Amino acid sequence: MIVIDGKSIAQEIVSELSQKVALLSSGKRPRVHFIRIGDDPASVSYVNKKSKTATEIGIESQTTVLPIETTQEELFSIIDEYNERADVHGILIQAPLPSHISETAAFNRVSPEKDVDGFHTINAGKLCQEDASGFVACTPAGIVELLERSKIDTEGKEVVLLGRSLIVGKPAGLLLLRRATGGNATVTFCHSRSKNLPAITRRADILIAAIGKAHFVKADMIKAGAVIIDVGINRITDSSKKSGFRLVGDVDYDAVAPHCSQITPVPGGVGPMTVAMLMKNTVKAFEQLNQRS
Ligand code: GUN
Repeated sequence: MIVIDGKSIAQEIVSELSQKVALLSSGKRPRVHFIRIGDDPASVSYVNKKSKTATEIGIESQTTVLPIETTQEELFSIIDEYNERADVHGILIQAPLPSHISETAAFNRVSPEKDVDGFHTINAGKLCQEDASGFVACTPAGIVELLERSKIDTEGKEVVLLGRSLIVGKPAGLLLLRRATGGNATVTFCHSRSKNLPAITRRADILIAAIGKAHFVKADMIKAGAVIIDVGINRITDSSKKSGFRLVGDVDYDAVAPHCSQITPVPGGVGPMTVAMLMKNTVKAFEQLNQRS
């Protein structure tokens, strides 16, 4: 069994991007703007990580932190401001948002050319149309990149997606379905309402778990020799840790790992890839916006 080292593969991508950014003429740097609402500890930690990685690559970044009671109108006027700024190439609104703000409306307020998260309707549509000029959501893009760089062929394989979110499940399925390298898979979506889940997940040559429930995938839910991609990042209480919690995936790793051919750990699997792909999207946004001007 091989443990897929997402951390070092992500670092490879970060190095490649650093080299690319270093070659840009001086004074021209990609810039990404983060917007975070409230103090959800996971969101604080994700945005900090994204901002640190941007700096490492030579991408400029800045974060606007808004109070939890910010109205949708206030958020929209801030998004509009960054949509209009010529020196800002990417805009990211960290989810989850408070319940009085529509996430879909907020994602759609970001200019599609700056939508480095790939959540805008136009970018979701471009993925559906296999139009490579669009932005693909970072976690799904990271999963496909992880498979490719780990030499795991997807063509003709049975891929089962456990989860159907806008951020992971749906776009990951569309990517794997594309008529392209890293695609051409036979894709099955299943979710919390699917009947007889183990019978579906056991068909998978590649199982992608993105259901958001700690240790949900058990050994009897996988086929021997399958590749397991664990997208879950769940906090569970752990009194032995200073923080009082630890991070676990959607897969019961200790029980499942002995039965599969390759598996991603949590942390250190898909998580770092998401950040790397956000940086790749930011550089792409910079290039596309510069070509236009
Ligand atoms: N919340 C959880 N995952 C993501 C992500 O990929 N992007 C944003 N903006 N928020 C998230």
